[in-house]
Amino acid sequence: MLKTMQLLRWPVAAAVSLILIDAVSRAAEVPGEPKPKHTIKEVMQGSHVAKEGEKSLRDIVIGGQATPEQKQQLLDLYISLAENKPPRGELAAFRDKTRLIVLAAAKVVVGREGAADELGKATNCAACHKDHKPPQQ
Ligand code: HEC
Repeated sequence: MLKTMQLLRWPVAAAVSLILIDAVSRAAEVPGEPKPKHTIKEVMQGSHVAKEGEKSLRDIVIGGQATPEQKQQLLDLYISLAENKPPRGELAAFRDKTRLIVLAAAKVVVGREGAADELGKATNCAACHKDHKPPQQ
């Protein structure tokens, strides 16, 4: 009996440390990776939530009415989006989505053709929220 208990201790300890490592790596910064300038919530508020009677920054940029400063501001927010870890879902899947968003926003800044359309498609609200936004409490 004692022997069995001793044998069991290691797998349990290993499982517990794996859970802890996972929790820590989700919560803390990975060495070498800079801390994001904005949280995901700040990115959503800054780019996707419109002030009363106005369009959101994303919609202004997609609509082709943005100033160069507004285009850069949106790129800055989307860089932060890509630097963050999603509160839900696979990190790799989130990175795939945010990579396309950052590329499209950068193409808008440098004036590539078709970039606004690309940005509109890349920032599909429902597609990302379904995988990565925690359900409402
Ligand atoms: C690449 C992924 C992604 C895309 C695209 C995206 N969102 Fe989000 N959004 C998130 C995540 C993740 C959260 C949850 C953040 C949290 O709870 O920390 C969120 C949260 C939000 C919130 C709540 C913010 C808050 O302060 O609690 C709003 C509003 C929002 N998104 C609007 C939008 C709209 C509108 C669009 C489309 C134009 C959009 N989002 C596109 C990932 C995304």
